[in-house]
Amino acid sequence: MSAIRSAVFFLLAFLFVNAPLSQLRRPGAARPGVAVAASREPVRAARGMVASTNKLASEVGVDILKRGGNAVDAAIAVAFALAVTYPAAGNLGGGGFMLIRRRDGRMTAIDYREMAPQAATRNVYLDPQGNLIEGEGSSTIGYRAAGVPGTVAGMELALRKYGSGRLTWAQLAEPARLLAANGFTVSHLFARSLRGSNELLGRYADSKRIFLNGGRYFNEGDTLRQPELAATFARLQRGGAREFYEGETARLIAEDMRRNKGLMTLEDLRGYEAKERVPLRSTYRGYGVISMPPPSSGGAVLIEMLNILEGYDLRGMNWASSEKYHLVTEAMRRAFADRAEYMGDADFVKVPIDGLIDKKYAERLRASINLERASTSAEVRAGRPAGYESEETTHFTVVDAEGNAVSNTYTLNLGYGSGVTARGTGILLNNEMDDFAAKPGTPNAFGLIQGERNAVAPRKRPLSAMTPTFVLRKDGTLWFTIGTPGGPTIINTVLQAIINIVDHDMDIQEAIDSPRIHHQWLPDQIVHEPYGLSADTQRALTARGHTLVARPRYMGDAHGIMIEEKTGVRLGASDSRNEGAAVGY
Ligand code: DON
Repeated sequence: MSAIRSAVFFLLAFLFVNAPLSQLRRPGAARPGVAVAASREPVRAARGMVASTNKLASEVGVDILKRGGNAVDAAIAVAFALAVTYPAAGNLGGGGFMLIRRRDGRMTAIDYREMAPQAATRNVYLDPQGNLIEGEGSSTIGYRAAGVPGTVAGMELALRKYGSGRLTWAQLAEPARLLAANGFTVSHLFARSLRGSNELLGRYADSKRIFLNGGRYFNEGDTLRQPELAATFARLQRGGAREFYEGETARLIAEDMRRNKGLMTLEDLRGYEAKERVPLRSTYRGYGVISMPPPSSGGAVLIEMLNILEGYDLRGMNWASSEKYHLVTEAMRRAFADRAEYMGDADFVKVPIDGLIDKKYAERLRASINLERASTSAEVRAGRPAGYESEETTHFTVVDAEGNAVSNTYTLNLGYGSGVTARGTGILLNNEMDDFAAKPGTPNAFGLIQGERNAVAPRKRPLSAMTPTFVLRKDGTLWFTIGTPGGPTIINTVLQAIINIVDHDMDIQEAIDSPRIHHQWLPDQIVHEPYGLSADTQRALTARGHTLVARPRYMGDAHGIMIEEKTGVRLGASDSRNEGAAVGY
């Protein structure tokens, strides 16, 4: 992925440097100090809107809306389509979270996060000396890295309970089957992404054959066909979701696992269950904030940060000021320290959610923030620093003509997951087991230090950072939907988009495009995007005691839909950092 990111970086850098000034400042957008306001207008549509990281998938969703499907129907078809057209993260072999808001205002969350196989006991990723296993057999690469996939069960649950009833499971899977069978054109970025993952994908015969063209690679303009995946979709169409967990697909996955000393068995697949959860609800300056509960940490960490920041006049601060970055960083530091200590799968461990999202608790945390000086993460809580690695997940969002909305983030964890395509299925399997604390106190692939509550256990779900979110207007109607990939940066990306809109009056596209920072408690550093912070701002933050790290590539790939206040027009926004598209009708 880093190759893709740097390509996007250079493209954007070129465009930025060469853009006439008139394009950099939007009419009426008098916000001195905004570093980048060179966003295009959001895509406008009177009825329905889909924003995802892939235009083909967005078009599939809009087509479902036009045929009478609701937002949930469309979201299911988009999720299936992305499993074909965006195999780095779109998936049948992974899992995620779907937040649903119905037109009458009722909200729910579908948890289809992967579950640990029975054989995944606490020390399954440690060698006899108690050290983390690396390479094959680890929590990141190969057959033992995969949790039991939840996507198919999640889509089935969403359709059964919240679909319109006007379109069948088989109809919603058909666009994906066709894309897999007929193929689609490989884009420049996709070709680079596949080539950049050659080391991982080249290890496994089916992955190499399908995604690396047998070692000859795909180039921009080539057609990628996935006949096995098309056949898997056909089986799902005939046999329904249970086919994945009990039928031929399950048998193929389990057999491949057995042949390669994987952890997952047929029993594990049979035992998978998607769950409906109650979304977390809070407010930020009077606006409703609805987000994902455990096993994602996203909602709680987001709300904790918003609660802390609510006590400051961010609006009165310049958007790009060191003063604001300082406070935002201190909020991030504290909420991520709590994440490490307190969060895990609430079906297994006690997670003090109410306490974490309590406004009084935020008040106490606020009192520990020095307005002039950075805290150190050591004093906020002890731990040890680590680095960052590549990342890939995907978020998409749908609003239909009736006003139903979906905000969905799902993933294989790292790009192309474990690298394994289960033989004969065309399904890439996740490496979500790395989201557990394989060895509590030791950093995972995202450099996250995580605690005992997130230790590995059979049937447990690894703690996530995915943060599909809705923000409501003060009258309780939907204002906007937002979400992104990016591992731990997910929560901070969503936070900054919300602040950009609520405190700085940005539209949804500007809020998504603006530069971002990230702090996750440990390592104790502010990571910023290219062009994200001026040299002056960096100096001012350093003088306050912060450590800054420039990130060579961009953070996240956010997608959002805002409802225009007076007209109800859907305003779709797809992150300019990647090649997604908002499509409406
Ligand atoms: O659930 C999580 O928090 C991670 N598995 C998400 C991974 C991710 O976002 C990678 N991508 N950009």
